[in-house]
Amino acid sequence: MARVCVVDDNDMMRDSLAATLAAAQHEVTTFPSAQDMLSAATESFDLVITDLKMPRMDGVAFLQKLRQNGVETPVILMTAYGTIHSAVQAMRLGAFDYITKPFDGPAIEALVDRAVAHGRLQRENEVLKAELSEKPAPSQLIGISEAMAEISKRIAQVANSQVTVLIVGESGTGKEVIARAIHAASGRREKPMLAVNCAALSRGLLESELFGHEKGAFTGADRLRRGRFELADDGTLLLDEISEMDLNLQAKLLRVLQEKTFERVGSSITRRANVRVIVTTNRDLKVWVAQRRFRADLYYRLNVVPITVPPLRQRVADIEPLAEYFNFQVAQREGRSAKRLEESALEALRRYSWPGNVRELQNIVERANVLAEGPVIRGSSLSPWLDGSLAPEAGETAAAPLADGRLMEEMEKRLIYQTLDRFGGHRARTARALGIGIRTLGMKLKNYRQVELAMMPGA
Ligand SMILES: Nc1ncnc2c1ncn2[C@@H]1O[C@H](COP(=O)(O)OP(=O)(O)OP(=O)(O)O)[C@@H](O)[C@H]1O
Ligand SMILES: [Mg+2]
Repeated sequence: MARVCVVDDNDMMRDSLAATLAAAQHEVTTFPSAQDMLSAATESFDLVITDLKMPRMDGVAFLQKLRQNGVETPVILMTAYGTIHSAVQAMRLGAFDYITKPFDGPAIEALVDRAVAHGRLQRENEVLKAELSEKPAPSQLIGISEAMAEISKRIAQVANSQVTVLIVGESGTGKEVIARAIHAASGRREKPMLAVNCAALSRGLLESELFGHEKGAFTGADRLRRGRFELADDGTLLLDEISEMDLNLQAKLLRVLQEKTFERVGSSITRRANVRVIVTTNRDLKVWVAQRRFRADLYYRLNVVPITVPPLRQRVADIEPLAEYFNFQVAQREGRSAKRLEESALEALRRYSWPGNVRELQNIVERANVLAEGPVIRGSSLSPWLDGSLAPEAGETAAAPLADGRLMEEMEKRLIYQTLDRFGGHRARTARALGIGIRTLGMKLKNYRQVELAMMPGA
């Protein structure tokens, strides 16, 4: 079943073709002229079949107009004997095929099926490209702590429901891995999973990233672009750092969550999206709601099933299996046998406080692999990277939850400034070394400066 649009100025021809296609279970919409179709069509079609010779706008001009408008639907031209050379010209302009009149039912049906399959393939390619442009994290979730066992249970519970999932945790704790595990355990696993980082784009760009835009919707919109909600249809969409989404856009997100409808930027056509949404944050959204930086209604909508990922220092039991896993992964990637993590190394890893969480652990294990000269990784070669100044105070074990919530922020701030120093203030390198985005780094630095200014005497 496909949505087919038939354009022909000849009433009899149009009606009989429509009847043939309807009998083949297609949903057919007809127009007596190209202009009528261009001005009246409010939905998208899987295929356009148009007569070539029509008064005012002919089939070739119509095809060009569609392409100019960013419509990439396959087009089939119907030609009479004697106009075949124009049909060939149309093929060069991107028509899918042409068919010579008169034709019989089975011939057009077969051609329609091929064109529709072709169009679907093109759409799938677009989705695949979008997926490839984001490097997917492995969906394997490593961990033996109680907290991870709880999280695995929660993943299994929510996977096959449609509810929005809110994943809360510090940077690098594995929020994206959890999101991918939910997708992989759901009935949507064969469908695309796409991710958008809300902190990485300006408000306008984020809106068109999510919902797409029509050609000409704004300066620079030189072609139609489908948004993530369209591309992830029937699949899953991960919205990272949701707290950074602008309040206006939050309203549009709420609408697509509740009503499953949205519009492309610059379009008045309402589209439907069947998308499972997962959002992540490393903020306390309740506080943001109280400060009116985050919509309360959206917060309640997102918070139906929250998953909280504790920082790595609160689940020390996971450190060893994670370290072994990353150790094994590096070896596999480099095609050699794994180095052995000596007990002294594991001990050092367990003692450290991991401000960068699992991502930092992964970086350190990889670095140790590159730098270790023999087949063994020892504690002494790790300790320079496990900066003592950041470790918990004497007497406080890494396993104990930190009593003061501000301590973590303080450590993060020191780590950031220290890394900045090491790279001579180079932000891009600092962000890369910390495993965070450059915009995230910029925002953190801005926050620190504001706090410092506010605390200055006379401020
Ligand atoms: N439980 C886990 N098992 C295996 N790998 C993990 C696990 N947790 C985290 N990782 C790895 O650690 C890195 C960071 O994880 P991830 O990107 O999911 O963190 P995040 O919470 O989304 O971080 P951010 O807030 O910075 O986006 C990734 O390379 C991921 O593969
Ligand atoms: Mg993430």
